[in-house]
Amino acid sequence: MVNNIVSEFVKSAPPYNFGIGDTHKPFRPGITSAIEMHKNENPFGVSPKAAAAMLNACGRSNRYPDITALKLRKKLAILHNVTPENILVTQGATSALAFIGDMFIKPGSEVIVAPPTYPNYYNITKKNNGKIVEVPVGSDYRPDFEKMYDAVTDTTRLIFLCNPNNPTGTICDDKKLIEFIHKVPEHLVVVVDEAYFEFIDKPDYQSMISQISDNLNLIVVKTFSKIYGMAGSRLGYAISNREIIGYLNTDAVGFCCNRVALEGAEAAVDDKDFVEYTISHNKEGRDYLTREMENLGFNVWPSGTNFIFFDAKMPPKYMADELYTYGVNIRGDFPMCRISIGTMEQNRIAVAAMKEIVKNYKSEVR
Ligand SMILES: Cc1ncc(COP(=O)(O)O)c(C=O)c1O
Repeated sequence: MVNNIVSEFVKSAPPYNFGIGDTHKPFRPGITSAIEMHKNENPFGVSPKAAAAMLNACGRSNRYPDITALKLRKKLAILHNVTPENILVTQGATSALAFIGDMFIKPGSEVIVAPPTYPNYYNITKKNNGKIVEVPVGSDYRPDFEKMYDAVTDTTRLIFLCNPNNPTGTICDDKKLIEFIHKVPEHLVVVVDEAYFEFIDKPDYQSMISQISDNLNLIVVKTFSKIYGMAGSRLGYAISNREIIGYLNTDAVGFCCNRVALEGAEAAVDDKDFVEYTISHNKEGRDYLTREMENLGFNVWPSGTNFIFFDAKMPPKYMADELYTYGVNIRGDFPMCRISIGTMEQNRIAVAAMKEIVKNYKSEVR
């Protein structure tokens, strides 16, 4: 009955489904459930400090939260060496990205992306009747800044750069990115999505937060979903200059971060032990999976994240479907496979299953 009044975006946008295919092959005998290695979550749980604070906050849920999230912004400001006025706290990075799209994309505005990259940038652009301009990554799976610069036109309004990039896991040259951000014209905004930044294993690598200034149209987007293990609590934030944050705040009138998540996040920022634990165990898993997959003859992209992009030398969907039968859920709907790093036990189960799949595949195609 409402078909003729529903917006074209809602009718045409695919539902977000984490790449879960329409059907799964049945599990092999003895397997009753699948390990979730397809959503880049934190397999080590939620920050214990955050969990305790969230439990505590439940009892005060009759009270509205501080809708300005000031306490959390103050903590984040210290963490990132900015001011609280440089930060907007949102319901997950997803909301921050949506507000940015609402604010800058008008019908016909061009939005540059470097595929393969985070699919949500496409939806945000489509929703606001913008036009996606694709500048594919180079053969090293890193953005080609010269080509991106050449793709800028008078109608470009946003450039979405995911660094480290999802799904490839690769990081770009930070010096080149800084140069690029300062070179692009002022009629557009560069959005650097640093959802996975903490997993980068290079001590001197620069976050683009270091470049935030009054004269630069730059927004950095961050999340509590990955490093703090709070994906279920839906909390993220945007960091930019005061003018941009001021406008974003206006758009974010429907502000709806909940008290439980906010208080959890305030505690999570202080939970250095959990952050270190996550980083070191993620690295152990990343090294292990990389080594084992290379031993299997796969092409494995160097990852600066909590997931790995790899070419298993067979169709990605085939690998993902087969792995599922062994109880391991990964993404097979990108140009290559993407596996989220799990606990070592989960990683070992995944590798054992991959070994079987490779063996069977070789005998099938022989
Ligand atoms: C690159 C990237 N940006 C943003 C998000 C969304 O994060 P959030 O859970 O905070 O909405 C994700 C989620 O996986 C992501 O991969």
